[in-house]
Amino acid sequence: MDDGNDAGLDTYQPVDERLSPPKSFVEQANVADGAIYADFDENWPDAWERAADLLDWDEDYDQVLTERDGGYRWFDGGQLNACVNCVDRHLPERKNQRALVWEGQLGERRSYTYLELYREVNEFAAALRGLGVGEGDLVTMYMPMIPELPIAMLACARIGAPHNVVFAGFSADALGTRMDAADSEYLITCDGYYRRGDAVTLKNKADTASASVDAPVTTVLVDRLDGYDPTLGAREHSYSSLLADHGTERVSPVERAATDDLFRIYTSGTTGEPKAVTHTTGGYLSYTAWTSHAVLDIKPEDTYWCSADIGWITGHSYIVYGPLALGTTTVLYEGAPDHPEKNRLWEIVERQAVDVFYTAPTAIRAFMKWGSEYPDKHDLSSLRLLGTVGEPINPRAWKWYYEHIGNESCPIVDTWWQTETGGIMVSTLPAVRDMKPGAAGPPLPGISARVVDGNGSEVDAGEGGYLVVDQQWPGMPQELCEGDAWAATASENAPSPAGVEWAYLTEDGALMDDDGYITILGRVDDVINVSGHRFGTMELESAIVDIDGIAEAAVVTGTDDAHGKALYAYVSSEDDRENTEELRQAVIDAVEETVGPIARPKAVVFTPDLPKTQSGKIMRRLLEDIANDEELGDLSALRNPEVVGEIESAVRSD
Ligand code: WT7
Repeated sequence: MDDGNDAGLDTYQPVDERLSPPKSFVEQANVADGAIYADFDENWPDAWERAADLLDWDEDYDQVLTERDGGYRWFDGGQLNACVNCVDRHLPERKNQRALVWEGQLGERRSYTYLELYREVNEFAAALRGLGVGEGDLVTMYMPMIPELPIAMLACARIGAPHNVVFAGFSADALGTRMDAADSEYLITCDGYYRRGDAVTLKNKADTASASVDAPVTTVLVDRLDGYDPTLGAREHSYSSLLADHGTERVSPVERAATDDLFRIYTSGTTGEPKAVTHTTGGYLSYTAWTSHAVLDIKPEDTYWCSADIGWITGHSYIVYGPLALGTTTVLYEGAPDHPEKNRLWEIVERQAVDVFYTAPTAIRAFMKWGSEYPDKHDLSSLRLLGTVGEPINPRAWKWYYEHIGNESCPIVDTWWQTETGGIMVSTLPAVRDMKPGAAGPPLPGISARVVDGNGSEVDAGEGGYLVVDQQWPGMPQELCEGDAWAATASENAPSPAGVEWAYLTEDGALMDDDGYITILGRVDDVINVSGHRFGTMELESAIVDIDGIAEAAVVTGTDDAHGKALYAYVSSEDDRENTEELRQAVIDAVEETVGPIARPKAVVFTPDLPKTQSGKIMRRLLEDIANDEELGDLSALRNPEVVGEIESAVRSD
């Protein structure tokens, strides 16, 4: 396929190896019968009832999937409250079981039973009401990994106020842009947090962001830092005083329609602006509960740990909503995996007797680099299942995880999904299908995904193409439910499969093998993935070209031993200005200011000109090949082939 070749999608060779799940796992698995695939095929969409059945509904839905005015509604007519499903309904059976377990960076430990969680969520919901938050008001949260974050999310869900969580590592600029875009007049934040023992303040960034938005902002401040007691302004309230004022209050949960918004989250898209993704109450919650049950095999009596940050979709779906909907104990960890020592995570797994552990390939590669002596020091025998998400996992890292963390007795689920999909879409069902290191797995039962070429025709097994989802699913976001945004015609890069009426374009390249297992090759749009986090090249490039003295910029990813992928910024300066250290620093600062330190470039490469096609388009692919130290193909299509040699030597000398 032509487009695929251009995008370099046909070069990947998956490893031909398969491993079966241990019998002991299969015997206890939530889903162990392979007939589930056929059941979904034959009874689609009604087979999705089993996901809705994992929840408590105030009002039954009329129909599983309704098509209306070119849009889709899951569980239409149904009424429920997400907070009730994650908290209240567990009280009769497990009020004294731990719901949240928190491990702080300074070694502190705190936990909340379901009853304690119920109380604090109610008190905070009452406080939010008191501040004027009503049903439908969007509440922004800019908070580190502390229990007050999920508590605030659940309190919002209780009163029907969608939340808008912004990752605490983002800059003031990024927070301000997201608050403005969301028209959000409420902000819940924190004085700061600890990272590797050092205090990091958040309040100053929150202040800068609030000052930059149009509407007046009402702020709630959680106190996390010792010895830091900022004076509160007129519209600022302390979390602990609010709780004290509303102690013992209870708030009746607001009945929400299945199709009502549960939350908004901003992710990176292909434009310079962050992309809003809105998830529904009934569809999303059913879907995260179902995938937590079927893929992560979570049981109420488990201690489950996903090491992501709640600021990303992974944390929303698989630290908060999915696990709590199932009534399990979910672990929250503030801080770095190597502080105070590189055994930190394994020490927590041992102490908390974690049953299921879910992390990202970038973390696994770091563990591998640090060496197996760290996990070897600990008893990890409580582990039953391991998971990975966020980027492709190379077979070597997969095997290391399997051997050194799972002791060859835990299945691994390599779960492919996106902010937009709400939950896991492609993965083995761990008790049903064999694992193939390097391939995520087949689409889940009820999920229809295909790999197509530039014309929308299905490609042969083993050939690269574009991954599209050509059937609706309960976790689909509001934007997709309401029309064809991001579907079929959204991108010229990835047309819909021939003869298929509707398709969601994932913007990922992939290949499918003879067994229907999908290997993800990476993004085909202008979104790049660094250490499992998503950034829009446009967003970063426009921040860089705003710098006085910079003429043009192109941002790509290149291989990096530690992180898998790292960011390379290629820039040309105005009037051939000297490539001063100052300008390089300005580029780094600009990126940190617009997004945050997580997007800091590994290299800033100065070049007299960026390589361009005859029509003046920057050849990002070529810049990526240079960053990856790959052989460069034919350069004859370039308008300015002479710059390539200079760029190469600038990268090598960096
Ligand atoms: C992009 C979505 C879903 C939560 C975390 C990221 C990449 C995700 C995998 C995987 C290969 C993966 C894709 C996708 N990705 N999971 N198992 N194997 N690639 O969510 O920030 O929306 O990023 O992450 O490229 O499009 P996100």
